Amino acid sequence: MNPLALWLLCRVDSKRERERADRKGGRIMSDTGSKTDIAALTHAVRVAVAAASDLSALEVVKIQFLGKKGGSVTALLRLVGTLPEAERKPFAAQVNALRDELDALLEERKIALSGGAADAALVSQADDMTMPARRHGCNAAGTVHPIQQTIQEMVAIFAELGFSWAEGPDVESDWNNFSALNMPEDHPARQMQDTFYMPTAAKDNRGATLLRTQTSGVQVRVMTSQKPPIRIVAPGRTYRSDYDQTHSPMFHQIEGLMIDEGTTFAHLKGLLYEFTRRYFGVDKLSMRFRPSYFPFTEPSAEVDIGCSRAGGKIKIGEGTDWLEVLGCGMVHPQVLINCGIDPQQYQGFAFGMGIERFAMLKHGISDLRDMFNCDLRWMQRYGFSATQSLLHAVR
Ligand code: DAH
Repeated sequence: MNPLALWLLCRVDSKRERERADRKGGRIMSDTGSKTDIAALTHAVRVAVAAASDLSALEVVKIQFLGKKGGSVTALLRLVGTLPEAERKPFAAQVNALRDELDALLEERKIALSGGAADAALVSQADDMTMPARRHGCNAAGTVHPIQQTIQEMVAIFAELGFSWAEGPDVESDWNNFSALNMPEDHPARQMQDTFYMPTAAKDNRGATLLRTQTSGVQVRVMTSQKPPIRIVAPGRTYRSDYDQTHSPMFHQIEGLMIDEGTTFAHLKGLLYEFTRRYFGVDKLSMRFRPSYFPFTEPSAEVDIGCSRAGGKIKIGEGTDWLEVLGCGMVHPQVLINCGIDPQQYQGFAFGMGIERFAMLKHGISDLRDMFNCDLRWMQRYGFSATQSLLHAVR
């Protein structure tokens, strides 16, 4: 049936109803009268929705019944408020039930019709797989970003050394990012890691919510959810209010953590030596551990690797220069306690390194900011093809 005719047939004119109400001295309709009208309208609603053959016809039906001006169900809903109290409740219940049914029917029909539209679009807009790829002056096949590549390579090496992959969210609690790591609210070390705070009202006992400044918070997550022995690495995005040639407000770190009985600094040294040697693909490497300070490790160290800077080019594993690459140390007993681990029984080490730094050193990238400019020419120069990427990872 033509939807307009249907609408005319079923329309309940609120003006007419009000006049009728006036005539009856406040009584809108007899019970049977209202029931009949609503029953007729309900029937009309069902027929009209089912008859809508596409989304635009369905929209017309929706306006007919629910339009602000002249929608027949809208008119009934408006009428509710004008009724004397005794009549209002039962009438409102019927009209609301009608409205609910109409909403449900419209939604159901919409899903059915959109499915049909999507199927039709799939057929009519099917990709022609034989068409040559469009070239934007770069490798049209796309490449793996050096950061992603570096993460894969690092994780693959650590996996060979017995470490599994852990993850934490970018939006972290103050507790996980700072306090549990022995950096309470007024700790001066927080100053070096100014970040972006979330405008949340939810300040529970874990403190504010922020964009994590370090992947070290994953240590807390792992130690509070797993029992030792623990051996994990956790790569991911980190954030700080920094921006220059070697700093970007968003950057990447990989965190390492090992907790077991009898873990010592010697294990840490052996692991980092083996990792660095394998990552840079050199047989031998000089490495030194310089005493340093991190609130969550004691003792703490920064690690330098030997390199040559001859001719302005950095070569790892040669020469007599030093290059700082990461921070590490033995997990502070207070951090273990904060995470519910008994420091008398378990000890552990942790380390953290910047992924950009490792990627830049290996692939000769000079400006860190270029990594995130989304320049396709840069990606063509420094990105990895799928096969290159696989070969590196399984090397
Ligand atoms: N989270 C430190 C930073 O962002 C890096 C770090 C240092 C991580 C020492 C560690 C560690 O796990 O033991 O500067």
